[in-house]
Amino acid sequence: MAHWLNLLVMFFFVTFTTNTEAFDAYMVAAQWPPAVCRPPTPCLNPQGGHSFSVHGVWPTNTNSIIRPSACSQAVNFDPNNIPADQRAALDRVWPDLKGGNNEVFWKHQWDDHGKCSGLSQVDYFWKCLKLWELGKLDARLANAGIVTSNTPTLISTFESLLAKQMEGVVPILTCRGKVNKRELLEIRFCFNMTNNFVPCGVVDKTCTPATHILWFT
Ligand SMILES: *[C@@H]1O[C@H](CO)[C@@H](O)[C@H](O)[C@H]1NC(C)=O
Repeated sequence: MAHWLNLLVMFFFVTFTTNTEAFDAYMVAAQWPPAVCRPPTPCLNPQGGHSFSVHGVWPTNTNSIIRPSACSQAVNFDPNNIPADQRAALDRVWPDLKGGNNEVFWKHQWDDHGKCSGLSQVDYFWKCLKLWELGKLDARLANAGIVTSNTPTLISTFESLLAKQMEGVVPILTCRGKVNKRELLEIRFCFNMTNNFVPCGVVDKTCTPATHILWFT
């Protein structure tokens, strides 16, 4: 009897004291600023077309399309709780292109994703910065010989060239624009809990059914 009671107590403890839903990886969503800001989408803070910037770093599941969400028990975003060195790094790699207010963008990302990480706000953003740095997307693209171009690029070629730079793991490309004139919008890739590249698994957004993408400068 006492044994079952213990289990029951433990069950309630685990169920109602954790802020997180299960996840087994982080998805890094890297956005291409010129595409994000292309008309008709105005940007208050457009950036030059030379490097990707962070859209988000999201707790995710590699075996399910369902990402943890609505993890409302975590504490609210506190803009005063950003160490100066962290803020400098975030300002550099995670600008709010559309709204031009970085803190608002980070708050949304904390609310929608960070709260599900089980980490404190400060630790979560350090984790994001760490994974962004490990991703080294601009360098990997350069190593893959992928450069901006107005020539339509075969998606499968793009993917396999970049995968060679990502320990064989194929990244996820998302696009915007008409089907016959798709433009690269984001490159997404996943790290498991020990910071190794892993396939993201089931995903909701890709460039299909397009076979080619345009990547303007
Ligand atoms: C992460 O992936 C690497 C490489 O596939 C693997 O060796 C490692 O065990 C994985 N870590 C976890 C926590 O699954």
